[in-house]
Amino acid sequence: MELQERRERLSGIESELISSHGTPAYVFFEDDIRENYRTLRGALDEQYPDSVVHFAVKANYNPGILSVLRDEGCHAEAYARGEVSAALTAGYEPEELLLTGMNRRPEDVERALSLGVEYLLVDNATELERLIEAAESTGARPKVLVRGNPAMEVPTHPEVATATRETKFGLDTDSGRAMAVAERAASAPAVELAGVQLHIGSQIRGVEPYAVAAREMLSFAADIRDELDVEIDVLDLGGGFPVPYEGPVPDTEEIIAEIATTVRETAAEFDLSLPTLFLEPGRRLVGNAGTLVSTVGVVKETPHTNFAVLDAGTNAVSSYWPYPIYALADGERSERYHVAGPLCYSGDVISEDVSLPPLERGDLLAVDRIGAYSLGSASHTNAQPKPPVLLARSNGDIDVIRRPERAEDVVANAEVPDDLQ
Ligand SMILES: Cc1ncc(COP(=O)(O)O)c(C=O)c1O
Repeated sequence: MELQERRERLSGIESELISSHGTPAYVFFEDDIRENYRTLRGALDEQYPDSVVHFAVKANYNPGILSVLRDEGCHAEAYARGEVSAALTAGYEPEELLLTGMNRRPEDVERALSLGVEYLLVDNATELERLIEAAESTGARPKVLVRGNPAMEVPTHPEVATATRETKFGLDTDSGRAMAVAERAASAPAVELAGVQLHIGSQIRGVEPYAVAAREMLSFAADIRDELDVEIDVLDLGGGFPVPYEGPVPDTEEIIAEIATTVRETAAEFDLSLPTLFLEPGRRLVGNAGTLVSTVGVVKETPHTNFAVLDAGTNAVSSYWPYPIYALADGERSERYHVAGPLCYSGDVISEDVSLPPLERGDLLAVDRIGAYSLGSASHTNAQPKPPVLLARSNGDIDVIRRPERAEDVVANAEVPDDLQ
């Protein structure tokens, strides 16, 4: 949906939003989430039906959002114990979860196994030993995916590139470390070596990196077959599919076609049977579904620029990605503003030099396509309460899926020592 259409859709619910909930508020559209999932599932059904989509819960762990995806039949990838709880709250069955994560607490691994989580990712040798111990003590026999790292160039922001040589993630396939962990998993009766995984990073530009990733991991799978006599069942290529913050990004169909073709060709080349394909997309399924609606409180001219100061800033959305920003009341974009928040640091600028209609106090701005990662990275800087999360339902209702925090909620868990009261 183009930005103009998105603006009109949001304007259509503006009066209800403002009269019932005020700003700042995160607004998600149920239709977008469903459509994103259906597009991906449809592409897979056409090109690689033997596949399971696990939504990366880290991208948005609000149970209201998760339940829309669960309702569509999407499974979930939970990285940490809080994400397991969020997914269970959303009604996921433990068998629909894939537990990934690094430095997981032994009790959390045991809890996952006792609940019935079947697939667990192993990022390092220590993680595998913890998993074997947990499996022995619970009597479960989990299926292990070994996370590889083939030291790839990954075309994205360096902080979210997760398969480069420098990153902490995965086991390098070149040095034999990945194989050593696979060998240990294959020889431990308490676990089953079921597959290989590679998550190359987030907001990946282009489709070719997925072809490289698939080839690297199938080559590793062929080595496992040759050296350990184990044929793996699952190839997990993680997530990373991008959202069009500015400029075009590859279609879902295009990404899936690249993956499906490469997997088929490479499996044939290595004489492997076709694996079940797991994917773990986050950003792509929810990124465009969410918008932060915020009110301009101050328009301030400085010798350097004009600032539009909103009632939410980098406490609510990161300034990491170039989110589209527009005024809800459309007009000719004849002015340029640095769109800032109210926080006490100069870096509290969501975006610089944004073309907007002339603004005044009370105007509403939309910071769009913020649906992925914003809720999780929102902070209490300056003890700012977190905004509510609203879900614009397919039936026209607007449901509150997270209540707004009050100022006192921010310090609700704090304690003042008795003698200082
Ligand atoms: C293991 C794993 N899987 C999936 C994802 C989801 O990535 P994205 O939201 O870019 O699809 C991430 C996030 O970086 C991740 O670390």
